[in-house]
Amino acid sequence: MAKPVQIEVWNPNGKYRVISTKSMPGTRWIDLLVQQDCRVEICTLNKTILSVEDIIALIGDKCDGVIGQLTEDWGDTLFSALSKAGGKAFSNMAVGYNNVDVDAATKYGVAVGNTPGVLTETTAELAASLSLAAARRIVEADGFMRAGLYEGWLPHLFVGNLLKGQTVGVIGAGRIGSAYARMMVEGFKMNLIYYDLYQATRLEKFVTAYGQFLKANGEQPVTWKRASSMDEVLQEADVISLHPILDKTTYHLVNKERLSMMKKEAILVNCSRGPVVDEVALVEHLRENPMFRVGLDVFEDEPYMKPGLADMKNAVVVPHIASASKWTREGMATLAALNVLVDMRSLHINFFIILHSI
Ligand SMILES: NC(=O)c1ccc[n+]([C@@H]2O[C@H](COP(=O)([O-])OP(=O)(O)OC[C@H]3O[C@@H](n4cnc5c(N)ncnc54)[C@H](O)[C@@H]3O)[C@@H](O)[C@H]2O)c1
Repeated sequence: MAKPVQIEVWNPNGKYRVISTKSMPGTRWIDLLVQQDCRVEICTLNKTILSVEDIIALIGDKCDGVIGQLTEDWGDTLFSALSKAGGKAFSNMAVGYNNVDVDAATKYGVAVGNTPGVLTETTAELAASLSLAAARRIVEADGFMRAGLYEGWLPHLFVGNLLKGQTVGVIGAGRIGSAYARMMVEGFKMNLIYYDLYQATRLEKFVTAYGQFLKANGEQPVTWKRASSMDEVLQEADVISLHPILDKTTYHLVNKERLSMMKKEAILVNCSRGPVVDEVALVEHLRENPMFRVGLDVFEDEPYMKPGLADMKNAVVVPHIASASKWTREGMATLAALNVLVDMRSLHINFFIILHSI
């Protein structure tokens, strides 16, 4: 027998049963589901990451759709359980879907959705924040002040890196990578070098036009370059931000060998997924190169950090908060609800009403 689960219920008499494995910001997503005759059940279990077993208990015998989180393991077992319960839709409240086995979902006839677009600017802004925090040693300096160590201005106190005129490197110039590149180019007049499997034409046009604008105003124009390899970016850039998806091709993309190619005073930022960086190699590199700095939002074994990372003064670490702005999180919840509604195609939902109401 399935174990009991703690839930909050909206619209108890709704025809379709939709589960959210977590409470999500705002109420718009709930309103959308309720308007379409869904009974919405939100798991209120006081546990940060739900196990597969917890989610099976939530799904129960009848479930039309689920909104889940990137911390959950959506593989064969869960899609089989959802399908058996009559489920047709699963939406990941994230743009990345490396926690979802799409082949398994397809096998069981469950459509999968994610929430791209609404995270772009917010995530890019955190990458920019980490770049600045690392370049200007803000976290170290903050700790110094709070510890009562400040005795007065000194020429050598917390000297960091100037960004203006330096080169920003972007690995993975998709939605977020391109937004970050524009922020760094426009905000700090950095030159751009990027590597992606595809050409980022809009980004190139933006930097070209901005360079022309600067020149017309008597300033040094910014430049861009599409690198033919990732190594070229690592060797040339002063600040490197990682924005590819996580898959087999990007696992440990930044490893010991690649770290050694980077400038000794370079800054590395990771707001993509933890396993894109070999974190053990990174800790060793940080230890051996005190002027090399990192800004990390994601980690290989979340919620844990590899041994030694927390002691590194040249690392700025935050707990996977890149998409954590109110606007974005409410937008992600809304998109996740719409995904479930759209994917429960057999329910003959009036799409005009849904789209009209957002
Ligand atoms: N830290 C967070 O909270 C957070 C928030 C949002 C997104 N993300 C991560 O950021 C990723 C990117 O999101 P997006 O919306 O920009 O996706 P996107 O699909 O628009 O961009 C990903 C880019 O990576 C490129 N790419 C893929 N494989 C590559 C490789 N081997 N080398 C170089 N480039 C490669 C793709 O061509 C694409 O342009 C997501 O998949 C997710 O994992 C993290």
